[in-house]
Amino acid sequence: MNTLFTNIRCLVNTRENQFLLKGKDLLHLPTIENAFLLIEDGIIVSYGKMNELSEKIPNLPQHIINVEGQFILPTWCDSHTHLVFAGSRENEFVDKINGLSYADIAANGGGILHSANKLSNTSEEELFTQAWKRLQEVSKLGTGAIEIKSGYGLNVEAELKMLRVIKKLKEKSSITIKSSFLGAHTYPLIYKENHRGYIDVIINDMLPVIAKEKLADYIDVFCETGFFSASEMEEICKAGLAYGLKPKLHVNQLNSIGGIQKAIELNALSVDHLETMTEKDVKDLAESNTIGTLLPTAAFFLRMQYQPARQLIDAGCAIALASDYNPGSSPSGNMNFVVALSCIQMKMLPEEAINAATLNGAYAMQVEKELGSISIGKKANLIFTKPISSLAFIPYSFGSNLIENVMINGEFIK
Ligand code: NIG
Ligand code: FE
Repeated sequence: MNTLFTNIRCLVNTRENQFLLKGKDLLHLPTIENAFLLIEDGIIVSYGKMNELSEKIPNLPQHIINVEGQFILPTWCDSHTHLVFAGSRENEFVDKINGLSYADIAANGGGILHSANKLSNTSEEELFTQAWKRLQEVSKLGTGAIEIKSGYGLNVEAELKMLRVIKKLKEKSSITIKSSFLGAHTYPLIYKENHRGYIDVIINDMLPVIAKEKLADYIDVFCETGFFSASEMEEICKAGLAYGLKPKLHVNQLNSIGGIQKAIELNALSVDHLETMTEKDVKDLAESNTIGTLLPTAAFFLRMQYQPARQLIDAGCAIALASDYNPGSSPSGNMNFVVALSCIQMKMLPEEAINAATLNGAYAMQVEKELGSISIGKKANLIFTKPISSLAFIPYSFGSNLIENVMINGEFIK
């Protein structure tokens, strides 16, 4: 079926020659004011200015929707989440208000281990039900592509359970989903003093099954002091690469321990978090092909310093923005808030933040050929705003829901 949208106040991120946006390029966000957009069978087939409509579309389709006053954007590409988890951790949230740090909580067996414990006592069906609800919630908030990690299993059976849930989400949802294997999220208690033993489980017991059942697209490691060192990350990534899993890594949230340099050497698709960056880390990242994915809601929720977005962009890095949706450090998958926070606290300009949350997010999960911009041949995954005065109004009015409708593959979601 064909649908024509007319009188669009502003069509955002229209591109026919796209590339990964680095440094200054992030500021260029192409738009068309007073525009039309034609979609056919869930795909964008034409767009332009209203005054070109009769020339470009001589035979108007039957189904025409007038969206006067509204902006249309490509849906958010949330390239880093842990959306599959069991229950929640608001008790630790209160502990943190009372003075404990994220590291204190983890050291006391809370944090990731707490979620792993809950997950092992939750059935695959129940886990799917909880994750499905979250996926519906974020899609209504404008997310049209999402990456989801394992990492709350920490043993063969539970890691496979998580990855099978992600696989089912992929099959059932119309949203584009990518999956990352994060067995190396932390050490389970029984391997607390035997890191070698757990790394062997990841490499010898988990990876072969994951590869055989095609349960993951990427391999991830939490590279931090007290978790996995840069050389442990290297060993795990090389084992993943042998099965065709490209690295997409957690680095530099709490410490700078050589994770950036090692990730670049491994040709990682992205390095994610980046709250704690040295000047050398910034320079090395800028000179690489690896995307820096910033997770400002994690810094916000943990009351940490924000990622140095300005310094990274000024140095010429490719920046993506993602939600990190997880029960411990970012219990929200609201990409509208991620974009607003990036502008408010990291001084990203609205154009930079929108590019980082759409096109560069698509690159950070290798879906840039089908999503991330308004381009002919791409999927009609679209955000329709309420009538707004300008693009900057989106991050400016950070607490309001400005989304009127979300379309996935040409269908409005309910
Ligand atoms: O990306 N810090 C590592 N992983 C998650 C948090 C996991 C958790 O606390 O449950 C993150 O912030
Ligand atoms: Fe994360």
